[in-house]
Amino acid sequence: MTDIRISKILEGLRGTVEIPADKSISHRAMMFSSLAKGRSLIKNFSSGADPHSTLDVFSKLGIKHNFIDEKTLEIVSDGALKAPSGELDCGNSGTTMRLMSGILAGQNFDSVLIGDESLSKRPMRRVIEPISLMGGEIQSVDGHAPLKIVGRPLHGIDYVSKIASAQVKSCVLLAGLFADGITSVTEPYISRNHTELMLKYLGADLTVEGKKVSVRGSKLEAKEIDICGDISSAAFFIVAGLIVPESDIILKNVGLNPTRTGILDVVRDMGGNIEILDKREAAGEISGDLRIRYSVLKACEISGEIIPRLIDELPVIAVLATQAQGQTIVKDAGDLRNKESDRIAAIVRELKKIGAQIEETPDGFIINGKTLLEGGAEVETYHDHRLAMSLYVAGLVARKEILIKDFQWVDISFPEFLNLFNILTGR
Ligand code: S3P
Repeated sequence: MTDIRISKILEGLRGTVEIPADKSISHRAMMFSSLAKGRSLIKNFSSGADPHSTLDVFSKLGIKHNFIDEKTLEIVSDGALKAPSGELDCGNSGTTMRLMSGILAGQNFDSVLIGDESLSKRPMRRVIEPISLMGGEIQSVDGHAPLKIVGRPLHGIDYVSKIASAQVKSCVLLAGLFADGITSVTEPYISRNHTELMLKYLGADLTVEGKKVSVRGSKLEAKEIDICGDISSAAFFIVAGLIVPESDIILKNVGLNPTRTGILDVVRDMGGNIEILDKREAAGEISGDLRIRYSVLKACEISGEIIPRLIDELPVIAVLATQAQGQTIVKDAGDLRNKESDRIAAIVRELKKIGAQIEETPDGFIINGKTLLEGGAEVETYHDHRLAMSLYVAGLVARKEILIKDFQWVDISFPEFLNLFNILTGR
């Protein structure tokens, strides 16, 4: 257990840092390369614990990987998975558990997916239901992990999802790779589309029409995949740069896929000074460098289609809103209660402890700003990496030092977090 103390930054954040690899894309790169026949090369693979849970799961399914250097991964696969010798441990990773449910449902063997305490509380009916409509079988107690996946022949479906969730969409599309006929998923709003972009890049027979994605049974090609930086990790630096007076920072190699850039739209709406310096494309994904400067911010409303485009950023957006003039309202974000923690309850409770004017609503929160955060309190992280990092950013502007309990949870997505912050703060 690692508790850390964080105190106010008296001078602005300055300098340039490179943002580490995208977690969502890292999972998919490992999964899809394992399903492709031949030699795949993944460059800039994430060092987060979650993508490493995916690596461990595939090792148990007979797919060997080899780190050529710290971040470059070689996978040589014959395109087929083997029955696992034991349970497949997804750790804290919802993406691993839900996407693997789709991949494993159509195999000719059974498997069991398990997870840690937090993952075992998260809802899995959202994947069990569509997989059973495809003729598959996933057994669980109460719709939670452990999940026993009974491998079965699957058939395509035209699935209309009630929630905008990339994990649900990806689960169904991946099951569709092994199913007879066409499998389609329609969602209420477009969620992150990394699965679609990467499957297409690797040669799958996949089409997108508005909010509907369709796939046919396909073999994937082994290729090189270069992973861009994670905008969800960049978000902590974006917010810190905007709210710590006199800051002027550059974040290099940030993923700018439009299904993920909701935070940039919100920042612009609030009057934040953010510039995109350079844009490029690799494996279907756009990335670029960002310059962020301290800004005078105004409140805004965040709801509807933008929610899935910034779902993981909402805890740190709450911190941002405490420093914006007026009332910021976040709604339509009820699924935030089903993440690594109940992020609505958790961020509201912890930010209140340090002086924020924030109230919980069933599907979001309301914040009145601008508030000088008082600090001087102990805050909890709820086994949740994004809670830990959001509270760290709040600590940078709080009047008195705060103590963050169990800060080690950052390692789930962003082990480099403190080192990179130290570069910009000079600590
Ligand atoms: C993810 C999808 C999102 C996101 C999660 C990663 C993915 O979850 O919150 O951190 O990689 O597909 P939902 O699909 O449950 O919204």
